[in-house]
Amino acid sequence: MGQSNAETQATACPASGGSLFDLAGSSLTQPEIQAHPNAFYQAMRREDPVHYDEKLGMWLVSRYEDIVTVLRDPLTYSDKHGYAAQYASGFFAEFKEILEREGGGFFPDVIKDDPPAHTRVRRLLEKAFTAHRVASLEPGITTIIAGFVEKLADQAAGGRVVDGVNDFAIPLTISVICEQLGLSHFSADKIKGWSAAVTAQIGRMQNREQMIDNARQICELQNFIIEQMKQREAAPREDMISDLVHAHTDDGGKLSFAEAVSLIRALIIAGNDTTATAIGNLLFILATRPEVAKALQGSAADDRLLNRFVEELLRVAPPVRGLAKMTTREVELGGRKLPEHAHLLVLYASGNDDETHFTCPREVDLNRGNLSSHVAFGVGIHRCVGASLARMEIKVAAREIVKRLGQIRLAVPVEQIRYLPTVATHSIQSLPLTLSRRQ
Ligand code: HEM
Repeated sequence: MGQSNAETQATACPASGGSLFDLAGSSLTQPEIQAHPNAFYQAMRREDPVHYDEKLGMWLVSRYEDIVTVLRDPLTYSDKHGYAAQYASGFFAEFKEILEREGGGFFPDVIKDDPPAHTRVRRLLEKAFTAHRVASLEPGITTIIAGFVEKLADQAAGGRVVDGVNDFAIPLTISVICEQLGLSHFSADKIKGWSAAVTAQIGRMQNREQMIDNARQICELQNFIIEQMKQREAAPREDMISDLVHAHTDDGGKLSFAEAVSLIRALIIAGNDTTATAIGNLLFILATRPEVAKALQGSAADDRLLNRFVEELLRVAPPVRGLAKMTTREVELGGRKLPEHAHLLVLYASGNDDETHFTCPREVDLNRGNLSSHVAFGVGIHRCVGASLARMEIKVAAREIVKRLGQIRLAVPVEQIRYLPTVATHSIQSLPLTLSRRQ
């Protein structure tokens, strides 16, 4: 689709506006832009597609085609260096020292490496998330999710206000990933705090005091993981932690202790924060777009439609807003010459909103021809390894919600919904709802 044709279509869409945005005076670090970023994304795509955000000190990659170019070329756009430069930004040395002193060590994220080191651990994780294995998990996950929906309905009885994020989406996804990992005795509140502490390291919004607090939480998480690993070293069980502790890589070797800690930590965090955000967004959309809720209520048994809905939900409200990469050489991107070591923030969320790729991008359109070409899970060698599990979890949540619940309504005006302060995700902080059981 050509640019001018797409722009004509975009202006015909109800939700699209002209680009009256002061890009030079704006930054993704501003809370109001983080909360409602689409006009900012649109202005970048139209006026300055690879835009330098002075306050963030990063180049924002906003157009769909440039995002795909970056993600398909991991040697020019390094995940490892982009992530390292973003991690605990501004406080890295002190952060690392706290982890070494109190958290069993500093364990770099091995999955956030570049090839060939990345390929070695990636293959191992892929085995844990094959489509076949994920399909076999669906009945058990359905039982867990149905239980959470019923509990939410009980809590909401008599018109009481419930929190769709903190009472439902977060504890639900924590239960699912803990079940996978084999963590039967876990505290959902602790895991929620640990997740927030880890994701804050790429959010670019923490001050020193928060960094110290977050580092202590991560120490606790690592000590917990190390204890779990020790138990399985002594006596293997049928769970993912045992698989990782005893796994053999393709080269016949084993994961080192540090690699295993970092992978288990990555699965606990990546497996719950993003999916919880998606399930919070699911409830938000059902509460604010009655036509979508109606279409789904008539189709709870239609797996194909539910799958299309999940893709469109992830496109229109992608949980991961942007992740970092770094150029390893001088390169031209989107008409802009970038030097070696340019620090980029790849805005998956803006790619999904790009009117040159998706017609009327702000609309939820279950009949969209190219709906699965969204980039909510990334593209290329670092594409989300847990995508099939996440998709299934969101689909089951959608199905159980529309099967068991009737009307879902926001309990506050939409303007009062707050988002977490971070450039990495776009997550609703708390979602006050009223809801009833389906009659
Ligand atoms: C809706 C939920 C989810 C979303 C939107 C999401 C999104 C993403 C994105 C955008 C990336 C990075 C791609 C890149 O670097 O360009 C990623 C990577 C990753 N995700 Fe997810 N994710 C989700 C759920 C999960 C789950 C459930 C797990 C595991 C249980 C998981 C594990 C991972 C891991 C380990 C990586 C690193 C892969 C690599 O670098 O090779 N994610 N995810």
